Amino acid sequence: MRNLLIAGGAGFIGSNFVHYILERYSDYRVVVYDKLTYAGNLDNLKGLERDPRYAFVHGDICDMDRVEETMRQYKIDAIVNFAAETHVDRSLMSPGSFIQTDVYGTYVLLEAAKKFGIERYHQVSTDEVYGEVLQGSSRESDMLAARSPYAASKAGGDLMVYAYFISFGVPTTITRGSNNIGPYQYPEKVVPLFITNALDNLPLPIYGDGQQMRDYQYVWDHCEAIDIVLHKGKPGEVYNVGTGVETRNIDMARMILKLLNKPESLIQHVTDRPGHDRRYSLNCDKLKALGWRSAHTFEQALEKTVRWYVENEWWWRKIKSGEHYREYYERNYGQRQVLK
Ligand code: NAD
Ligand code: DAU
Repeated sequence: MRNLLIAGGAGFIGSNFVHYILERYSDYRVVVYDKLTYAGNLDNLKGLERDPRYAFVHGDICDMDRVEETMRQYKIDAIVNFAAETHVDRSLMSPGSFIQTDVYGTYVLLEAAKKFGIERYHQVSTDEVYGEVLQGSSRESDMLAARSPYAASKAGGDLMVYAYFISFGVPTTITRGSNNIGPYQYPEKVVPLFITNALDNLPLPIYGDGQQMRDYQYVWDHCEAIDIVLHKGKPGEVYNVGTGVETRNIDMARMILKLLNKPESLIQHVTDRPGHDRRYSLNCDKLKALGWRSAHTFEQALEKTVRWYVENEWWWRKIKSGEHYREYYERNYGQRQVLK
């Protein structure tokens, strides 16, 4: 496997994966295929322009002609699909683009995989497809019970991937990951939002009681898991990716403030997210059987992440001062009531 098409490679996890692959495999060529939505950012790939093993194609995964042209031009052997609309709050405000990219776009890439007879199609999916899990942990064979338009679109994509494996024999794999943190995460997601707000002494808006739990993993560990599944995973299979360590939002916020030496009075409880899933939990035995282990504890992951945002203001200030971000912030947070 030499020529990888990384769809959505200018986003948070996709760009980390591009850096990871180029560092890890000297004989791989990476073609980033990305629409550059508000979440796609060429700053995430800065410095790679000089690497002959890297190429960038500006394109939409819903555009069949452009996808096929790229497959042909770069003789693609495998597709890794990160491209998606990814923010739950935005999916509550405007679900249409989620269905378009996360379901239809996945179909277009699968069609290309089928037509060009490639070695592997890998879909990067999420633990949110299992829905809220109040007790126990989700296994890969569990029913999909998505509860937000984002999660439902991702579940639709996963089902399409499986259908292409069963119906057409496309060699697919899927990973379903828990919440990632680390460099280049757009500051709409809670961890970079809280870090950057705290740095500016702005309130940290906690939805509802803040007792919701998430399994936060370091993005590089997730990239390693995708690498393992891409090379050792069995076609047609799904693999969960998480650390098994759950952290309440309120505790995560307090830890960020402590790391930055900021007061807890910055925490502000605000109106909850509609349909807010209180907990996800993954059983990752299948992935561990392939040899994967998460390399970072939650504390290490959070500390590294905080340090990166402290040291890379150039990256996030550009985003946060932009009109798109300010409009989004007003739309999502302007109407929320402060609870206490
Ligand atoms: P992101 O929002 O940071 O990046 C998404 C990227 O996809 C951007 O570069 C964007 O420009 C691109 N994109 C969007 N629509 C496109 C289209 N129609 N055509 C081409 N490119 C398009 O996302 P992320 O957080 O890096 O997530 C990447 C993938 O991982 C997603 O599929 C997401 O569902 C999944 N995932 C994310 C997390 C997480 O915690 N962030 C956890 C598990 C799984
Ligand atoms: O679980 C994997 C998923 O993690 C990915 O599939 C999604 O793409 C990614 O966005 C993420 O979804 P979440 O909804 O869990 O992430 P978010 O950062 O939006 O929120 C994390 C938790 O923090 C959640 O319980 C909601 C809460 N939250 C979020 C925001 C943005 C707040 O309390 N306040 C906020 O302002």
